[in-house]
Amino acid sequence: MQEVTTEKKEFTPNIVAFCCNWCSYAGADLAGSSRLTYPANVKIIRVPCSCRVNPSFVLKAFQQGADGVILCGCHPGDCHYVTGNYYTRRRMSLLFSFLNYMGIEKERTRVEWVSAAEGQRFSAVMNDFVKTVTELGENKRLTDLRVKEGE
Ligand code: FES
Repeated sequence: MQEVTTEKKEFTPNIVAFCCNWCSYAGADLAGSSRLTYPANVKIIRVPCSCRVNPSFVLKAFQQGADGVILCGCHPGDCHYVTGNYYTRRRMSLLFSFLNYMGIEKERTRVEWVSAAEGQRFSAVMNDFVKTVTELGENKRLTDLRVKEGE
């Protein structure tokens, strides 16, 4: 006789974090070396500057099964390329409101400024973002169903 299990599998969201090389990635490094924790389901993609993230990268992440996408860059005024993060801020606020219109809740997307000295902030931001996306549940919008089939 087959045993019936009533145990429900806990949802673990797929989180994609684009981090600029000069501040946020170093902040993530500092969090690691300071033994501060952030969830292992945060997949960090290092980019030269937050403005390197083309809006199509965010769309592609959702298409490939991401449940939340976060962009981290230098604080305004501190960008290594002077104005890169100003472009990011404008570009992403437009993209995120467009995604919200398409049904991807605005809580699934976020832009945060984290400096190289803010390991603690990096850890706190990631923990909070993962908690928020976990509460929202699985993202079903924009997902390429062929990606999910293979799981
Ligand atoms: Fe960090 Fe531009 S180099 S946001």
